[in-house]
Amino acid sequence: MGDAAVRAGRASFLPFAPPVIGEEEIQEVVDTLRSPWITTGPKTRRFEEEFAAFVGAPGALALNSCTAAMHVALACLDVGRGDEVITTPLTFTATVNVIEHVGARPVLVDVCPDTLTIDPDAAARAVTPHTRALLPVHYAGHAAALDALRALAERHGLFLLEDAAHALPAAWRGRPIGAGPNPAAFSFYATKNLTTAEGGMLTGDPDFLEAARVLSLHGMSRDAWKRYDKGGSWRYEVLAPGFKYNMTDVQASIGLWQLRKQPTFQRRRAQIAESYTRAFATSDALEPPACRPGVTHAWHLYVLRLRLEALRIGRDAFIAELTARNIGTSVHFIPVHLHPYYRRKYGYAPGDYPVALAAFERMLSLPIHPGLTDQDVADVIEAVLDVVHAYRR
Ligand SMILES: Cc1ncc(COP(=O)(O)O)c(C=O)c1O
Repeated sequence: MGDAAVRAGRASFLPFAPPVIGEEEIQEVVDTLRSPWITTGPKTRRFEEEFAAFVGAPGALALNSCTAAMHVALACLDVGRGDEVITTPLTFTATVNVIEHVGARPVLVDVCPDTLTIDPDAAARAVTPHTRALLPVHYAGHAAALDALRALAERHGLFLLEDAAHALPAAWRGRPIGAGPNPAAFSFYATKNLTTAEGGMLTGDPDFLEAARVLSLHGMSRDAWKRYDKGGSWRYEVLAPGFKYNMTDVQASIGLWQLRKQPTFQRRRAQIAESYTRAFATSDALEPPACRPGVTHAWHLYVLRLRLEALRIGRDAFIAELTARNIGTSVHFIPVHLHPYYRRKYGYAPGDYPVALAAFERMLSLPIHPGLTDQDVADVIEAVLDVVHAYRR
């Protein structure tokens, strides 16, 4: 640490992304625990209905993670061995792991330099006779270029599955992510805009979701709630060797209230993003995140990029300096092609995806959760500008 770290202003550590849970969520969980049914049941169904209404989706299926949602969606689309799925390296490994899970080949293409979402021209160049699906990531909560991706999917008869882990509530040309007929997978992991501790939601066409519902619960023709309810029957049939991916009513209890709070949460996230961008835009050492016209940003992440040529330290040291100033940060993401499994299996070199690599090397994510006070936001800004000032070239 340099001398600047010793001048740190903030007394206590500001965590990067703690959950914002209120009494309502706690009471709803207690209510469920006191009820005779705690796993997938009436509250999960209500959460699905309210979520679908919130994003304007034709239907919604609650699951135990976004990873499960993407896996079951690919399986239902019958994507498998010999097939290729196009996505980007600048994502969490789950996006690419699920392609491996169904036995297909992930085909990585680079991202756009401004939004860090999939470059549709690069995706178009990567289409082969084996391509079955496009799996764009709405990175950080900024919608991928859906017009171009939909046109590409239509031209080649490809499925479009959206990784919407960061995209609640985001919109593309005024239409919420998840409102389309194609499947979109949301995450309710602990750090997400809406959390159920662990959880996910698959939106899309109701018939498709019914098939996904069966596959997500052992491939059984009817779920346990219906079997154990009065008037239910103990009989069921296994239609396929399915997974165990259902959401519990305990999780849905948290989700129901988190959903109702989304508009308030979202206003606060957008406000924080605006404060950061206003403070950083004039620094020649900092590049605030872009938001293209026509996009409603979910602001799940605020990814700041450093202009390393203006600084005497790199990204890792910058993060250490912020930690010394009691500011929690993260990095989203270590590009998939740098991880040993993928590097070895597909022979990737770091420079294969120059835009993703360059972004990774100079990026850090700042706290942007609705629990931040104005003072917290001011502390983050002060700390970032202090590090820039201390290490300017
Ligand atoms: C882009 C992206 N996709 C997928 C996931 C997986 O979500 P989950 O943890 O709900 O499976 C994450 C989680 O962090 C993510 O960031």
